[in-house]
Amino acid sequence: MININTNYLNLKESYLFSDINKKIKEYKKINPDAKIIRLGIGDVTLPLPKLIVDGMVKASQEMGVKDTFRGYPPEFGHDFLRNNVKAYYKRYNVDIDLDDIFISDGAKSDMGNLLDIFGKNNILIPDPVYPVYLDTNIMHNNNVIFIDGNKDNNFLPLPNDSLYGKSYIIYICSPNNPTGASYNKEQLKEWVSFAKKTESLIIYDAAYEAFIDNDVPHSIYEIDGASSIAIEVASFSKFAGFTGIRCGYTIVPSSININGVLLNKLWKRRQSTKFNGVSYITQVAASVALTTEGIKECQKNLCYYKENARLLKEFFKKKGIWFSGGDNSPYIWLECPFGMSSWEFFQFLLEKCNVIGTPGVGFGKNGEGFFRITSFGTKEDTLEAIRRMDLVL
Ligand code: MLT
Repeated sequence: MININTNYLNLKESYLFSDINKKIKEYKKINPDAKIIRLGIGDVTLPLPKLIVDGMVKASQEMGVKDTFRGYPPEFGHDFLRNNVKAYYKRYNVDIDLDDIFISDGAKSDMGNLLDIFGKNNILIPDPVYPVYLDTNIMHNNNVIFIDGNKDNNFLPLPNDSLYGKSYIIYICSPNNPTGASYNKEQLKEWVSFAKKTESLIIYDAAYEAFIDNDVPHSIYEIDGASSIAIEVASFSKFAGFTGIRCGYTIVPSSININGVLLNKLWKRRQSTKFNGVSYITQVAASVALTTEGIKECQKNLCYYKENARLLKEFFKKKGIWFSGGDNSPYIWLECPFGMSSWEFFQFLLEKCNVIGTPGVGFGKNGEGFFRITSFGTKEDTLEAIRRMDLVL
C-alpha cells in the first residue's frame, strides 16, 4: 500500500468558495428562476482593457510565425516583464533587483508553493484571513499560531509580548482579504522590527495593493530593512482583471540569508525543477498592464469597482451596520445584523434577497458574526443588491 499525505485529512472537507458554490447550486435546484447576484468570491467582472487584449493578440500572432515563435519561456519570467515589475516598484521608491523577481501563474499558487523551500516551522497567521495561508500550512503539518484580528484592533493585529521567544513565518495581507483593512507605515515597521528581533520571515501578500488611494504602503519593501526578512507575493488578478488569465509575481530578495543559505537560490532551484514558466502571451499582457498607459486603463476599471464599494459603504452606514474596508480595498467586511452568525446571514441574504456574500467565519474563528461583500460585481448588480437588502435590513 502506498502512503498518502495524511495532513490533507486534517483540512476542512472543502475549500470555502466550493462550499458556497454548493449552497448556491442547491438553492438554484429548488428555485430555478431566482436571479442570484454574486458578491461572494472576489472575481472581477469588467473585461480586459483594450490595449492588453491588443498586446495578447499581437503576441499570439507572433507565435504563428516561424521567426517570432517561442517555445518554453525563461523559467523565472521574461526580462521585458520583470523590467516592468521593477519599474512599477520604482513608483513607490522601492528598488528591486531583476534577479529577485519571479513571474508566476498567480499569487495563490506561489503562496502554497513557497512552503516547499521551508522545513517545519511555527506559522503566525492573523485570524480572520485568506484561507489559503492556513490550508497550505496544514498540508505541510506546520505549527500554526493565530493572532486575533477583531473590532478592537480594527482587524489589524500587531505583534505582542507573548509572541517573543520563537521564530515564525508570518503572513501579512494588506490591504487585507477579507477585512479590507490596511496597515499603515508605522504598523508595518512594528512587524518588520518584530521579524528581525525574532529571526522570523514575513510572507507579504500585496494582491490588493493597486486599490490603495492614500499613503499606506503598497509594498513591505517600503519599510527599511524589510528586504532581508520579507518575501512579497503579488498578482495581476485584481489589478488588471487577470483572474482568468493567471499571472502574478513573487519577490524573493537575494538579501534573505537564513543560516548561510540564500532563499533566492532555493526558490530558483524549486522553480526550475517544478515550474516551466508562464506563457509568452500572458507575460506580454501583464507587461502591457504595467506600462504607464496600461496602469491608467487598469486604474479606470478599479475606479468602477471603487464606486461600487462607495455605494455599499453608504448603504451599510445608513443602516447603522458596522463595517471595515471599502477604502483601499474591494471588500466590505460587515458585522452581521440581528445578531446572526455568518452562515445564518449568508442563508438569510440568499433566501430573502438572492444575494451571495461570503460568511466571515470561513476566514477564521474571529470572522464569526461577520460577512464579506465584494465590490467586483457590475454596478447594476450592486445597485440591485442594495435595493433588495434595503427591503429586509
Ligand atoms: C477571494 O474571494 O477571497 C479571492 O477571490 C480568492 C483569491 O484571490 O484566490
